[in-house]
Amino acid sequence: MKLKVLGAGSIGNHLAQAARCLDWDVCMCDIDPAALERTRAEIYPGRYGSWDTAIELASLTDAPRGGFDVVAVGTPPDSHVELAIAALDEEPRAILVEKPLCPPTLERAQELAERAAERGVAVLVGYNHAVAPALRRVRDALPEIGAPLTLDVEFREHWGGIFTAHPWLAGPADSYLGYAKRGGGASGEHSHAIHLWQNLAHALGAGRVVEVGASLDTVRDGGVDYDRLCLLNLRTERGLLGRVVQDVVTSPPRKWGRIQGEAGSVEFALSAETDVVRRWVGTGDPVEERFAKSRPDDFIEELRHVEGVLAGRETSAAISLERGLETMLVLAAAHRSAREGRSIQIEYAKGCTLDALRYT
Ligand SMILES: NC(=O)c1ccc[n+]([C@@H]2O[C@H](COP(=O)([O-])OP(=O)(O)OC[C@H]3O[C@@H](n4cnc5c(N)ncnc54)[C@H](O)[C@@H]3O)[C@@H](O)[C@H]2O)c1
Repeated sequence: MKLKVLGAGSIGNHLAQAARCLDWDVCMCDIDPAALERTRAEIYPGRYGSWDTAIELASLTDAPRGGFDVVAVGTPPDSHVELAIAALDEEPRAILVEKPLCPPTLERAQELAERAAERGVAVLVGYNHAVAPALRRVRDALPEIGAPLTLDVEFREHWGGIFTAHPWLAGPADSYLGYAKRGGGASGEHSHAIHLWQNLAHALGAGRVVEVGASLDTVRDGGVDYDRLCLLNLRTERGLLGRVVQDVVTSPPRKWGRIQGEAGSVEFALSAETDVVRRWVGTGDPVEERFAKSRPDDFIEELRHVEGVLAGRETSAAISLERGLETMLVLAAAHRSAREGRSIQIEYAKGCTLDALRYT
């Protein structure tokens, strides 16, 4: 397998190392020569022990085009769609675009979906938790808990850790993170929670999210404009009602979810070292399963999934472009709902565009 990674930043290094663990060939590209040098001299050896000389480093303009099985787009969200559309011309077998797929303005998102379908290229969105062993276990356990009553997912984590991993940034104002319109803030950065909620709603047979009521706590200070707290009430097309909370202020972090059914419940808690799944069925004691892992395992698992999709062993459902577009529609609806102070409905027939959002 041959992988080209666009963006030699934090996620670019994670994906490059995961690919090397699977014995893939890797080329990393960036528009910034300082990012390439930082990867070689600091990020990669700092995280994984030493630089891997088998990895090719190239400026975006000098990088080889074509001949890659997978192109990964690991740049800031406001460049994802344009780079993914350009990557279609290289005819890879798959494009893995980082989350969130795009900013909540949804520019060209529908065009990406249409062009990828025309070319027959699999586009996947990097919501890696959805393909983690713990989440597979949660999905497998859903039939035990009977008809679903409600669903909650929270990704609450102070973003100090992100800035520790990016010592070259002084704070949110220095990157997309400080600007919700560029895909930052709690709504974009922790959109794993919206995505997992949707993923589980589909697994429960509850369908897509059609109604979004949101409140955001927004910081506008010294040029930044981002939500630090994003609270969502969601309803699906088959009437499942539940809640998503995402924030960049909670410490210690809580990445958690719970599905309550008529016959029992399933809960999960995710962390850097261990993911935990607990099941209660009937009046019995809870059954707890622990999934030990390391941070690199998150991305190795994700690339194994990509390999499985390309080999026809797995479907791409959990991290498909279709699901990534649904997440973007919910995220865009959340911003509109918070701005207008009323719930927003999503009309999927209009595609992934702002026209799909309307008032209830
Ligand atoms: N799935 C996860 O757990 C996870 C973890 C970290 C980051 N991410 C996502 O990855 C994306 C990037 O985040 P990051 O933390 O790696 O950012 P970063 O700032 O560390 O790195 C981004 C890199 O992209 C480069 N770049 C910008 N425009 C480019 C272009 N047009 N072509 C090539 N390179 C370009 C920048 O120079 C920079 O080096 C974001 O969408 C983020 O949400 C996901």
